[in-house]
Amino acid sequence: MSLPMNPEIFALIEQLSAEHTLSFSDYVFLIEHRSDAAAAELAKRADAKRKEIYGNQIFVRGLIEISNICKNNCLYCGIRRDNHSCSRYRLTEEEILYCCREGYDLGFRTFVLQGGEDGYYTDSVLCSLIRKIKDQHPDCAVTLSLGERSRRSYEMLREAGADRYLLRHETADAEHYRKLHPPEMSFDHRMNCLMDLKELSYQVGCGFMVGSPYQTPQTLAKDLKFVETFHPDMCGIGPFIPHQATPFAKQPAGTLELTLYLLSIIRLIQPNILLPATTALGTIDPKGREKGILAGANVVMPNLSPVSVRKKYELYDNKICTGEESAQCRGCLSRRMESIGYSLATDRGDIKK
Ligand code: 5AD
Ligand code: FES
Repeated sequence: MSLPMNPEIFALIEQLSAEHTLSFSDYVFLIEHRSDAAAAELAKRADAKRKEIYGNQIFVRGLIEISNICKNNCLYCGIRRDNHSCSRYRLTEEEILYCCREGYDLGFRTFVLQGGEDGYYTDSVLCSLIRKIKDQHPDCAVTLSLGERSRRSYEMLREAGADRYLLRHETADAEHYRKLHPPEMSFDHRMNCLMDLKELSYQVGCGFMVGSPYQTPQTLAKDLKFVETFHPDMCGIGPFIPHQATPFAKQPAGTLELTLYLLSIIRLIQPNILLPATTALGTIDPKGREKGILAGANVVMPNLSPVSVRKKYELYDNKICTGEESAQCRGCLSRRMESIGYSLATDRGDIKK
């Protein structure tokens, strides 16, 4: 892996920078034959591309983890239904609105409501909540990250004022998808949700874990091809990290190195994409998010959830940011960005078209 860059790899990097696309087999080759030199070359180009479009501004989103109750049983996830050691919670509407007010005063102009697939959040509960947030903070974007719902539901939430929706595709390979999820979940259904969201004119985020069990250079090449063709506004990628109370407890975590490499490639595929340096990246390396930015990411998501519930939203072991107050979490990220020559933007942080 740490061999000097071979000329074929260099040619592929040049081609990717110029054409924003490679063939499936070239992506496989780029992943299989990666080296420190190739990673450095990709990061340099990704960082430059992002600077051309967004300067040194890093977009910030306030993450509110509204519920860890989930009807799903994804094999990798710490809040899966069958994890009976997980202590469950659900925020009330007042608590969520309080988080938004606090976030607004701290300078957040995007709120991400994330949660498990919790049946309590019916369309009417969510629509009323979204309307209140938009009413109280008309200059803010509301992002939902609440899993798979019906097209009609997505449509009503959009009409109530939701601007964006994050739904990671998890893997673009149907076979791989089946190895990460229980039989009742379906790859086609997930992809259909993403298409519906796009058609309903949400700004849409897809994404996947790096180093998830059974992932291969081929499945990753499919993820990259999917990003090329789907044209997401955002793509959330972070390392898989095992959670002790899941079937994947003993599986190895994804690496910092491969995550950074893929962040750079995705930036070059779609130069204006919103690419978060995720909490998972900050969990596997103390400087993971800074390194993510330097590899081409341009979004960070400080935690705005009440401190009392943070440890309970444990998708994977040792998650960071679970002890800090919202203000501390934002301050910490702001200092981290400044330490590498970037600063947090104060607007909604929409994609530049
Ligand atoms: N490690 C890393 N990321 C995880 N997610 C769920 N479980 C894990 C884990 N063990 C990610 C999934 C999901 C998002 C909310 O968190 O990709 O879509
Ligand atoms: Fe599926 Fe949590 S159980 S993302």
